[in-house]
Amino acid sequence: MPMHQVARLADMREDRGLEVTLNDKPILLLRAGGQVRAFQGKCPHAGAPLAKGAVCHGRLICPWHKAAFRAEDGALCEPPALDSLERYHVEVRGDEVWIDDQPLPDEKIPPADDPRTFVIIGAGAAGIACAAALREKGFGGRIQLIDREPEAGYDRTVLSKYVLAGDMAVEQTPPLRDETYFTQQRIERRHGQVTGLDADARRIHLADGQALAYDALLIATGAEPKTLDVPGIDLPQVMMLRSLADTRQILDRARPGQQAVIIGDSFIAMEVASSLRKREMSVTVLARHPVPFAAQFGDSVGNAILARHRANGVVYHSEGEAARIEGAGKVEAVVLDNGQRFAADLVIVGVGVRPATEPFANLPREKDASLRVDDGMRVTDGVWAVGDIATFPLNGQPRRIEHWRLAQQQARIAATNMLGGEEHYLDVPFFWTYHFGKRYDYLGHAEQWDEVQFKGTPEHPPFIALLGKDGLVAAVVACDEGRAMAALAQRMKQPLPVDEAWRLVRDFSS
Ligand SMILES: Cc1cc2nc3c(=O)[nH]c(=O)nc-3n(C[C@H](O)[C@H](O)[C@H](O)COP(=O)(O)OP(=O)(O)OC[C@H]3O[C@@H](n4cnc5c(N)ncnc54)[C@H](O)[C@@H]3O)c2cc1C
Ligand code: FES
Repeated sequence: MPMHQVARLADMREDRGLEVTLNDKPILLLRAGGQVRAFQGKCPHAGAPLAKGAVCHGRLICPWHKAAFRAEDGALCEPPALDSLERYHVEVRGDEVWIDDQPLPDEKIPPADDPRTFVIIGAGAAGIACAAALREKGFGGRIQLIDREPEAGYDRTVLSKYVLAGDMAVEQTPPLRDETYFTQQRIERRHGQVTGLDADARRIHLADGQALAYDALLIATGAEPKTLDVPGIDLPQVMMLRSLADTRQILDRARPGQQAVIIGDSFIAMEVASSLRKREMSVTVLARHPVPFAAQFGDSVGNAILARHRANGVVYHSEGEAARIEGAGKVEAVVLDNGQRFAADLVIVGVGVRPATEPFANLPREKDASLRVDDGMRVTDGVWAVGDIATFPLNGQPRRIEHWRLAQQQARIAATNMLGGEEHYLDVPFFWTYHFGKRYDYLGHAEQWDEVQFKGTPEHPPFIALLGKDGLVAAVVACDEGRAMAALAQRMKQPLPVDEAWRLVRDFSS
């Protein structure tokens, strides 16, 4: 066992890890429960340096997208990571920390000893997280994972950010899992469109006429972009963005110097604006709100992000609604209901999404077509639903939230409950958005607040804004404050007074 001295105990803190390098590999050292632990140094999700995260309530939380791992053994607690951390053998000799240079073996493939079949519809964020969690939790039965997209199972969050901007090639879009994983874990992937469900008979129907029986079913079909009911919407240069195929279509038509008009000021619309500017297109956003994201982030942060867009050349126009798209066989302009005309070579519609639940019309659906679930993500006997299609109880209120990590958190809960467990959603929603090189993190879900307090200013990150209601933190938005946000992600699981949150921010910002 080749052991190497890598650190001194005196250099290690309780509230964060310490990164050391061994054979050119970053390794994270942690003090957990009086013991020293060693794990891989980079987050298995997207490679964040875990030493910049926080250790809080026995968990290590990633600074980027808030995946959480048990500090004691690196076990995965919360997505978007799908794997536990690689562990290394540690010895403490006096004040010296020594570690083995090879990770400990970690074989986790449950034996095929269960006669049940679990079917998952949708191999997106939630579907893949559920399949992975089922195996992680020891399910040895059959898992069938069905998706209508031939390439399903990739990180769609990068599409509007790095891929459209040209920072990542389309073919580098990260798969959530590679083919070896599916083979090793006996997860059967199937390309097909689900068209119907008979919940009494525990059977789903596919467009090719086949039917599949299940013992437990997860519906994770996500959302589809809303379109606009205006003349010209069918012109070939009018596009929406949800999938890899959509991204390819946009890239095929986007040329530097051309004029892109983006209808809508949703997160995706504004991310597309940022990315197309990077491609040296002229970009006009036809917005529905005078300030983007004010409803989620508050006016000050929304205005700061708007200023960032304007400083980078985006034209943001918020008067009037798109009434028609003009062009004879090719887009020429978008015309508003007040008569204003915006020349366009390319139009991207980013006005929100609706749940993709048509095949499940015989289940009770909400007005917005989503499926209502309980706090264990259960729809009815043998059926669970998660992610963008699910309306679930959040702090006692029915909510539908379109966030990547939340879809995966719900999927892990559904996996536990499909196996007969009793887990409930008691977590803190989190999402991120990316504009002109800056990632903005948001924790919580505030529809109203009565105070906003800042550390730093949103115009000049780093900053943190606490949105408070009745003295408690309702939500937090921040930029370049990864460690403090990591600690808050854990601490906000319980009601958190605003002044206590500031103490935490102070402790973890340093
Ligand atoms: C461009 C873009 C950028 C985003 N960026 C962020 C971000 O930065 N941060 C964030 O938190 N969230 C982001 N989101 C939102 C996030 O991607 C979603 O909330 C998340 O993907 C929801 O997961 P899901 O599993 O419910 O749905 P999805 O990931 O959409 O997966 C659903 C899958 O179901 C399949 N499907 C649908 N209907 C059927 C059917 N009838 N039969 C078979 N298969 C079917 C679809 O093909 C799809 O693969 C972004 C979304 C987009 C589109
Ligand atoms: S890099 Fe760690 S959660 Fe994304």
